[in-house]
Amino acid sequence: MKNIAVIGAGTMGNGIAHTFAQSGFNVQLIDISDASLEKGMNTISRNLDRMVAKEKISETDKSDTLGKITTFTNTEEGIKHADLIVEAATENLDLKLKIFKQLDDVCNENAILATNTSSISITQIAAVTSRPEKVIGMHFMNPVPIMKLVEIIRGYSTSDEVTNTIMELSKTLGKVPTEVNDYPGFVANRILMPMINESIETLYNGVAGVEEIDTVMKLGMAHPMGPLQLADFIGLDVCLSILNVMYDGFKNPKYAPCPLLVNMVMAGKLGVKSGEGFYDYAESRKAEKVATQFLK
Ligand SMILES: NC(=O)c1ccc[n+]([C@@H]2O[C@H](COP(=O)([O-])OP(=O)(O)OC[C@H]3O[C@@H](n4cnc5c(N)ncnc54)[C@H](O)[C@@H]3O)[C@@H](O)[C@H]2O)c1
Repeated sequence: MKNIAVIGAGTMGNGIAHTFAQSGFNVQLIDISDASLEKGMNTISRNLDRMVAKEKISETDKSDTLGKITTFTNTEEGIKHADLIVEAATENLDLKLKIFKQLDDVCNENAILATNTSSISITQIAAVTSRPEKVIGMHFMNPVPIMKLVEIIRGYSTSDEVTNTIMELSKTLGKVPTEVNDYPGFVANRILMPMINESIETLYNGVAGVEEIDTVMKLGMAHPMGPLQLADFIGLDVCLSILNVMYDGFKNPKYAPCPLLVNMVMAGKLGVKSGEGFYDYAESRKAEKVATQFLK
């Protein structure tokens, strides 16, 4: 594999592009918006600067990495020579189904189609293509250049050969791939989201305050970040949508989102990205502080 197309230059897409380029792959980074591409490339450049400052890479490594990435707003142009496509566009079922139909029509017949979705069924996405055996989940964690895990999700029809190829490829990125099957929430979110939901329920029931709940989990369980702060960081709307996918998928009330979470999302309190969630991020400096703490 040489050419990797990444669809979406947002939070995850730029991190995925950075990671592949730093490992020597040619990356075609695609987004519908020029502004997102520019912002994504600036983020990659800033993250590489931080690595240079920490003497993890040289200035030459930085310019080599940036030189491996080409940007496109025309998807067809960007994907036509790709051996692997990693889709990291907005989390929306209809959008992903549309993208995968287009990928299937345009990409060369041997190309593997991967998605970074946090919660949408790989099997459902694969079913709109004529190559379901070549569709797989590659669930990178945020921030991608730093986090070691890639949750590799096999859809119902994903072949052994494709799974093995993607497992080996992830290792060449310096990641630790872990194979799981395609059920709602996969493994990461199936375990993380109920913990976050329970911490919101604990707050809702008046057992303890925001900082107390986070302190118990940080200092008592050695979590780098409390669950409420983590929920703010992920986005409360994202947490709600993943819980709903699990609630609908398993028909099990244990995944029912806490009414406080539902109310906060309806009120537009989405966490860091909206300036307020369980914590107040009104001053942008404060929000940055949270993100930097997490990166350490
Ligand atoms: N943010 C996280 O922590 C996280 C973690 C793991 C997985 N994910 C998953 O990664 C994916 C991307 O999430 P994100 O947080 O990076 O979102 P984001 O909103 O930061 O970025 C999404 C990007 O996709 C672009 N886009 C939308 N439609 C497109 C199209 N048709 N073609 C090309 N680009 C298009 C948007 O312009 C935007 O730049 C989602 O599926 C999400 O569930 C997110």
